[in-house]
Amino acid sequence: MKNSVLINHKLKPFNKKILIGGDKSISIRWALTASQAIGVSKAYNLLESDDVKNTLNSLKKLGIKIFKKKKYYLIHGNGLNGFNYKKNITLDAGNSGTFARLILGLLVKSKKKISLIGDKSLTRRDFSRVIDPLNSFGLNIKSKKGKLPLELEGNDYLTPINYIEKRGSAQCKSCVMYAALNTPGVTKIKAKKSRDHTEILFKHLNFPIKIKKTKNFDLIEIRGLHSYSGFEYHVPSDISSSSFFIVLTLLSKNSKLIIKNVNINDTRTGIIKILKKMNAKIKYKNIRKKMGEKVSDIYIQSSKNYKSINCPTYYNSQAIDEFLIIFLFAAKAKGVSYFKNLGELNQKESPRLKIAYKFLKMIGVKIIEKKNTIKIFGNPNLKLSGKYVIENFFKDHRVFMMSVIAALTLGGKWIIKDKDSINSSFPDFISKIKSLGAKIN
Ligand code: S3P
Repeated sequence: MKNSVLINHKLKPFNKKILIGGDKSISIRWALTASQAIGVSKAYNLLESDDVKNTLNSLKKLGIKIFKKKKYYLIHGNGLNGFNYKKNITLDAGNSGTFARLILGLLVKSKKKISLIGDKSLTRRDFSRVIDPLNSFGLNIKSKKGKLPLELEGNDYLTPINYIEKRGSAQCKSCVMYAALNTPGVTKIKAKKSRDHTEILFKHLNFPIKIKKTKNFDLIEIRGLHSYSGFEYHVPSDISSSSFFIVLTLLSKNSKLIIKNVNINDTRTGIIKILKKMNAKIKYKNIRKKMGEKVSDIYIQSSKNYKSINCPTYYNSQAIDEFLIIFLFAAKAKGVSYFKNLGELNQKESPRLKIAYKFLKMIGVKIIEKKNTIKIFGNPNLKLSGKYVIENFFKDHRVFMMSVIAALTLGGKWIIKDKDSINSSFPDFISKIKSLGAKIN
């Protein structure tokens, strides 16, 4: 039971202020972008989780010097395509889809063979979505049916592409953006709306990039082979990690929480917009811009009378990592909630739509899932007293954290397995939960 937690107490009312670790998407993008700069880059508040560690370790294998200091990280970049390694190497992305997909964009000119592998969860995920556009630049990436392991060798004669990204996947868009950095000429991307941290970072660094926003798509043009110098960066806190604490507060009696310094980029705050529509009391205070990213303190207060939502699909990509915890909230709201077009959830660290269905059924929530649409019959009086065991077969960090929030707000006796999964994104999740007064063994 070493890797499980036992919970059989609801969390008592609390009134606290907390700080959450750095944003995962931004931390990985900082490291990748810094690896291509000329000279030293410095980042404060870089997330220290396994996904970021796998990023840094892989960059080190590619010959990039990286140093951890007490308060910051340093990366010594050698310029564009400045990776420096003597023999064929294997990079291990672990659980990180973001690192695995984005790094491929930076390897388009690699001189030796590179293999890319990952853990069991990453190995079941689709990579044809990045292999196809990269091959159009002039690569020949080998894989078995678009899955890891991949094998790749760079090409010195790349041609820029016109790429249409229809899924709303920031990983696909960013992979192509990184490939564009090493490609002569102008790469053009028409991308369905998705998180835009890469665009913001490239603009912040004055790269030759043009962005035109239309209602559903962003049109991006990047001129390649632009060199840039090392830069300093402050990573804001992660809204996706914060969301577990937001819902924990909303579903706990008489509780208040302040989360400081959180990234509230509009392409990431679907959860806040959805919860507010469901009557949640959430406020931003002290909104400011840092490094081009919007940052705020978030004030959350629990209340009653949450109501259901017919969730507009344009929130799907803005809340893509938060649906597990949103579904839990909907289970406690009055009325029937609808969430549509969520097939992409089954492409995440685990098949999350299927898992959410089983989970909510298990705790007695009436739920219907059909053609990637989910209908949740909420019950504000939902209380549990049974015994629940969460197996978490794919070791999905967000399945673990959502289960902990369910246990602390609904009651019952819980054994939740695979605690180590939190190391992907939020290693101090349990200690932060305990700091609010939770009893967890
Ligand atoms: C991410 C993009 C999203 C998200 C993932 C992080 C990123 O994936 O689910 O956790 O940092 O670009 P997709 O772009 O595949 O939807």
